[in-house]
Amino acid sequence: MKKILVATEKPFAKAAVDGIKKVADQAGFELILLEKYPDFNTLSKAAEDVDAMIIRSDKVTQALVDVAKNLKIVVRAGAGYDNVDLDACTRKGIVVMNTPGQNSNAVAELAIGMMIYMARNLFTPGSGSELKGKTLGIQAFGNVGKLVADIAKNMGMKVIALDPFVSDEMMKERGVEPVHDIKALYSASDYLSIHIPALDSTKKSIGYELATLMPKGATLINTARKEVIDEDGLYKAMQERSDLKYVTDVAPDTLTAFVEAFGKRFFATPKKMGAETAEANINAGIAAAEQIADYFKTGNTRFKVNK
Ligand code: 3PG
Repeated sequence: MKKILVATEKPFAKAAVDGIKKVADQAGFELILLEKYPDFNTLSKAAEDVDAMIIRSDKVTQALVDVAKNLKIVVRAGAGYDNVDLDACTRKGIVVMNTPGQNSNAVAELAIGMMIYMARNLFTPGSGSELKGKTLGIQAFGNVGKLVADIAKNMGMKVIALDPFVSDEMMKERGVEPVHDIKALYSASDYLSIHIPALDSTKKSIGYELATLMPKGATLINTARKEVIDEDGLYKAMQERSDLKYVTDVAPDTLTAFVEAFGKRFFATPKKMGAETAEANINAGIAAAEQIADYFKTGNTRFKVNK
């Protein structure tokens, strides 16, 4: 009997776990649930003899791969897989997959909610502003970016987007104006929502230069990864420009400095919560379980992300 470990330091909603269990039962797998685990040792012990793992932002490192002798497949229930050492998995022949699109709506709704929260002074007394009529720039027009664009357009925002991998036609079909230069994107955006992955080429790519291009009173929204921000550069930009705001679903490493310096111009969620909805948990969790069942049954590697 194959063993599937659901290792979620940040647990799924119960309905998602129930759904995963149902898929596992139907496929004849044993399901092991490890939630809110305290440390690597607990995780590695649980992973020792499992055939498959479902994870969220949980780290799959070389050390874990070394311990998990039977591991054949890891599915990240979500979009970003920067928490998985792909090379370590590839070397051991372990297939790594994600579940693209399954939690995108939750993240998109949070991005919009964060814009409103900042526009309304963190829901404290005083006159705020509206999103209607403002320009929203979207950096990367993938699953989340597209949904953010749809909602924003319906709220009366003008939406522009930059994505070298998406055609102008596709953007125009969704009523979005394509932009081909990052400086032009930042210069024109009252709100700028970041949806790029954390890659070597994107890490620390957003900082002083881009932030200071933004129009007066602009807000930067980060529901992607903290690593894409050059924190020192952004801090400097916000010090020089007392009109700039930054809201992020991923607390910066220098959180205290941002909190102390910028008051209501800055907000970070205490824990990453973009995908923290029952719907997203159910969609991504069950998709992950189904992908594992399908992989063992038919060899389907459609969502494989390593070589
Ligand atoms: C993702 O990459 O899918 C999101 O960042 C969600 O991450 P989480 O599953 O840890 O909430």
